Amino acid sequence: MQTLSLFFNLLVIFLVTRVSDAFTRKDFPDDFLFGAATSAYQWEGAFDEDGRTPSVWDTYSHTYSRYNGDIACDGYHKYKEDVKLMAEMGLEAFRFSISWTRLIPNGRGPINPKGLLFYKNLIKELRKYGIEPHVTIYHYDLPQSLEDEYGGWINRKVIEDFTAFADVCFREFGDDVKLWTTINEATIFAIGSYSDGLSPPGHCSPYELINCSTGNSSTEPYIAGHNMLLAHASASKLYKLKYKNKQRGTIGLSIYAFGLSPYTNSTEDEIATQRAQDFLFGWMLKPLVFGDYPDVMKRVLGPRLPVFSEEEIEQVKGSSDFIGIIHYTTVLITNPTPKPSLLSPRHDFYADMGVEFVHIGKYSLYEWESIPWGLEIVLEYVKESYNNPPIYVLENGKPMKHDSMLQDTPRVEYIQGYIGSVLNAIKNGSDTRGYFVWSLIDVYELLSGYMHPYGLYYVNFSDPGLKRSPKRSASWYTGFLNGKIDVTSQDITQLKRNFSGSSSM
Ligand SMILES: *[C@@H]1O[C@H](CO)[C@@H](O)[C@H](O)[C@H]1NC(C)=O
Ligand SMILES: *[C@@H]1O[C@H](CO)[C@@H](O)[C@H](O)[C@H]1NC(C)=O
Ligand SMILES: *[C@@H]1O[C@H](CO)[C@@H](O)[C@H](O)[C@H]1NC(C)=O
Ligand SMILES: *[C@@H]1O[C@H](CO)[C@@H](O)[C@H](O)[C@H]1NC(C)=O
Ligand SMILES: *[C@@H]1O[C@H](CO)[C@@H](O)[C@H](O)[C@H]1NC(C)=O
Ligand SMILES: *[C@@H]1O[C@H](CO)[C@@H](O)[C@H](O)[C@H]1NC(C)=O
Repeated sequence: MQTLSLFFNLLVIFLVTRVSDAFTRKDFPDDFLFGAATSAYQWEGAFDEDGRTPSVWDTYSHTYSRYNGDIACDGYHKYKEDVKLMAEMGLEAFRFSISWTRLIPNGRGPINPKGLLFYKNLIKELRKYGIEPHVTIYHYDLPQSLEDEYGGWINRKVIEDFTAFADVCFREFGDDVKLWTTINEATIFAIGSYSDGLSPPGHCSPYELINCSTGNSSTEPYIAGHNMLLAHASASKLYKLKYKNKQRGTIGLSIYAFGLSPYTNSTEDEIATQRAQDFLFGWMLKPLVFGDYPDVMKRVLGPRLPVFSEEEIEQVKGSSDFIGIIHYTTVLITNPTPKPSLLSPRHDFYADMGVEFVHIGKYSLYEWESIPWGLEIVLEYVKESYNNPPIYVLENGKPMKHDSMLQDTPRVEYIQGYIGSVLNAIKNGSDTRGYFVWSLIDVYELLSGYMHPYGLYYVNFSDPGLKRSPKRSASWYTGFLNGKIDVTSQDITQLKRNFSGSSSM
């Protein structure tokens, strides 16, 4: 049955795809990795089983959302089934994260043997099928105990605890894991969690859109971001001193990367776009590559931006073997028109950045246009501005309403367009080494719960067995990975011309 539907889907895809200027898997380097991704809280479920304790994400979802990851896809129990799906697809790599409180329930101290066994088994199962694990050490799920004890990421104490957690991961899993990301989308994590209040632990100032119980949007995002850079650098240093010679892996930080392009060709919009690049990329990438924050951030933020000591600069600079890119959408940037001055100054990350976003076509948190050239300009910008570092595209994908289910042709078009733009960037010299679809299967999502999933596989969350079924995108990716599909490369230049520099928008 499955084979028949796979054949049918391939046939349909062949018919809708014009084959000219086509590419296949073979046009990418052999050691390039095509994968798919999940994260612990979004996939595992089993939130209170076998010794796991709450993270700030459990607390956040139980407080603010109708949905939570208590059960999610039950990956904790169904991991063998899911690895089998990956193997059937011909998936080359799987990105997942380690739940800190499953491995070390008190945040520091004793290891939970059942948590340890779960990750060892999962990695062993992946290796059995030749699937490369890409492990994210931290994905939004700080132990609640550490948040309660000292305030989590806004306290420098987190650096030591994070490093000790990473040490356990390297020691226990490092013989079989060669690709490590320390912190998931560090930029948007700092912004979402400490400026907007939209992600755990949900800190913000009283003037933000939602009511946070605590926070300061004008200072905390920068303090948290600073501690993330130091925690990343500390774990990276430890890896290099203690493990790298033997284990021969690489370790990087990942950032959320909007495609950014000026709205008009005016000088104001060009400068605004550079400012947005400095705030959204340079904030983390400049310290990692050149050792300090961008000048414009220092100027705008003054004493609100923490300062690196000489010793810290040495540690942070060069601490990322690769840059992880999480990319979903592209915005046009315009210099804001002056507004009547507000009664009280409201500082937060976006106000500090001081640009306006113009969305291309339909845009909401759950729906956006496919703009493949946006990923190409991200990869090109990182190549040009940060000494062409190795890059992994760690997330890219499309949410769709749950009722769209199995016939997710727009997702197929989205993914093939973006893979095409990765190929264009590689051909132009970008050192991009991997591409991961978010997500392997429908998972619990931070912003939309179970309503707008991204999966290649459908999960029936009403079914007690949480049955998985392949969507058309799973069949398409299977065909692509097995070299059976030619994809027509989008005419990136044409698309770009249609969208940017247009004053009629
Ligand atoms: C925030 O709290 C205030 C005061 O309790 C209330 O009036 C307001 O409706 C709340 N806003 C939201 C978005 O929940
Ligand atoms: C945030 O912190 C700054 C600097 O400590 C302070 O001046 C400001 O009043 C604080 N804002 C809020 C909303 O607490
Ligand atoms: C912007 O584009 C318009 C139309 O192509 C052109 O006339 C104008 O000189 C350009 N302005 C700048 C600042 O490049
Ligand atoms: C290709 O790379 C060159 C040199 O790095 C750069 O100048 C050029 O703009 C790039 N082309 C595209 C289409 O991004
Ligand atoms: C999901 O599972 C429920 C309960 O088993 C079943 O009634 C329903 O038909 C399933 N939905 C789909 C789309 O398979
Ligand atoms: C771009 O614009 C050209 C000319 O208006 C049009 O023919 C083409 O279909 C557009 N392409 C896309 C992808 O929107």
